[in-house]
Amino acid sequence: MFITLEGPEGSGKTSHIPHLVEYLREKGYVVFPTREPGGTSISEQIRDTLHNLKNAEMHPRTETLLYQAARAQIVEQVIKPRLAAGEIVISDRYYDSTIAYQGYGHQQNLDQIRLLINYATGGLVPDLTILLDLDVEVGLKRKSNADEWNRLDAYTVEFHRRVRAGYLEMVKAEPKRWIMVDASQRWERVQENLREKILDKIGTK
Ligand SMILES: Nc1ncnc2c1ncn2[C@@H]1O[C@H](COP(=O)(O)OP(=O)(O)OP(=O)(O)O)[C@@H](O)[C@H]1O
Ligand SMILES: [Mg+2]
Repeated sequence: MFITLEGPEGSGKTSHIPHLVEYLREKGYVVFPTREPGGTSISEQIRDTLHNLKNAEMHPRTETLLYQAARAQIVEQVIKPRLAAGEIVISDRYYDSTIAYQGYGHQQNLDQIRLLINYATGGLVPDLTILLDLDVEVGLKRKSNADEWNRLDAYTVEFHRRVRAGYLEMVKAEPKRWIMVDASQRWERVQENLREKILDKIGTK
């Protein structure tokens, strides 16, 4: 079972995952959390390049390709072996982030982006993807309070609005894979929603 969390900046992905992992482990599942970009030594080095505020001149195509390089490595080195061993892998972002940010955000050709993703992932599609949906300004405000501002956060509010709109289109286009959770609710309520939806999915598999 491969589960991915998606959503705009500050929607809660990173803060929810450790609690979901703990909850599922208590229930007896073997769970492996990971994150994108990152999750392997090579991918974390690429993450530093992508997030570094000094790299303001990075072209959207460079950005897109670096994400795919980081992704190819984690898919082969971590995600596929864990799934093959029967574990539940929960990833903080995966390829839908590329469609949302590099595709909708940077307004690059979506068909080309999908081809690159397919090359990077070898066609590995999540079993369940959860969109933590949140108003863009609210999310950016949460993040500025949390003090972990990176190069992508610094893109314009219009960019982040296109990202959110892109996610909403993706949910509509693939309703079987996606579940949406209202991330504007208080944190505990969001966590409850996430637990319910994930258990539902695991139970039916
Ligand atoms: N439902 C909530 N209500 C209030 N604050 C929240 C809620 N969810 C998360 N936060 C806070 O918002 C900040 C950003 O959350 P978090 O880092 O988990 O978001 P994220 O989705 O991982 O963001 P990014 O996309 O930038 O990685 C954190 O300080 C977190 O504690
Ligand atoms: Mg995060």
